[in-house]
Amino acid sequence: MKITYLGHSAFILEDGDFKAVIDPFISGNPMSNINVDEITGLTHIFVTHGHGDHLGDTIKLAKNNDALIISNAEITNYLKSLGLRTHSMHIGGRYKFDFGTVKLTPALHGSAIQTEEGTVYGGNPCGFVIEVNSKKVYHLGDTGLTMDMKLVEIENIDAALVPIGGNFTMDIDDAIRAIDFIKPKLAIPMHYDTFPVIKADPKEFEKKNKTCKTLIMSIGETFEL
Ligand code: NI
Ligand code: MN
Repeated sequence: MKITYLGHSAFILEDGDFKAVIDPFISGNPMSNINVDEITGLTHIFVTHGHGDHLGDTIKLAKNNDALIISNAEITNYLKSLGLRTHSMHIGGRYKFDFGTVKLTPALHGSAIQTEEGTVYGGNPCGFVIEVNSKKVYHLGDTGLTMDMKLVEIENIDAALVPIGGNFTMDIDDAIRAIDFIKPKLAIPMHYDTFPVIKADPKEFEKKNKTCKTLIMSIGETFEL
C-alpha cells in the first residue's frame, strides 16, 4: 500500500484500483500548496468527523471523482442530502468492501459540521482501521487519549496515523502512551504545526517513541508500506 501525506490529518492510501483520501483538508491548509483539482482517480473518501479541518474538500473531491464517502451515519446523511454517494457506518462496526475491510473506532472529540445554513449535528467522531491486501492502517482521527486504544492492539496494525499537536487532540506524551497501547509496527505523526496552537516537534515524538519505528512525513511525500 502506498501512503501519501497531504498535511494535517490528510493522507492518500493507494493499492491497485483502490485510491482513497482520509480527511482531505487541503485547499484551506495554510501549510500546503497542493491543488485539490490535481487529485484525481479517487475511489473513496474517509471522513473521521465533521470539523472543517477534516471534512475539508470532501464535497468538491467527491463530485470531481465520483468517489464513495465512508463516514458515520450522521455525516453521510448530511452528504447524501447534497447528492453525494455515501456508505454509512458507525463506531465498532466493520464492513467488507471490494477493496478490503473498514472498522470504525471511537474518538474522544466533537463532530459538528459548520454550513452556510448553520450547524449540522455530526454524530460521534471516529477513527478508521482500514485493511487492504493484508496491510492495516489505523487513522486515529482527532482524539484525546483513551483506554479504548488498548483494544486496537489485537488488530496488529502496520501503521498508526497519530495526532500529536495537543490543544484539540493528544499531545506528544499522550500520543506516546497511545502508541504503547496500540503497538503498531510504525507510527506516523499528524495534526501538528498547521496552526500556531498545535505546534509540536515530531522529532520529539520520534525520540520518545520506544514502541515502534516512527516515520515523519513531509507534505506531498509518499511511502510504500
Ligand atoms: Ni476536530
Ligand atoms: Mn482537527
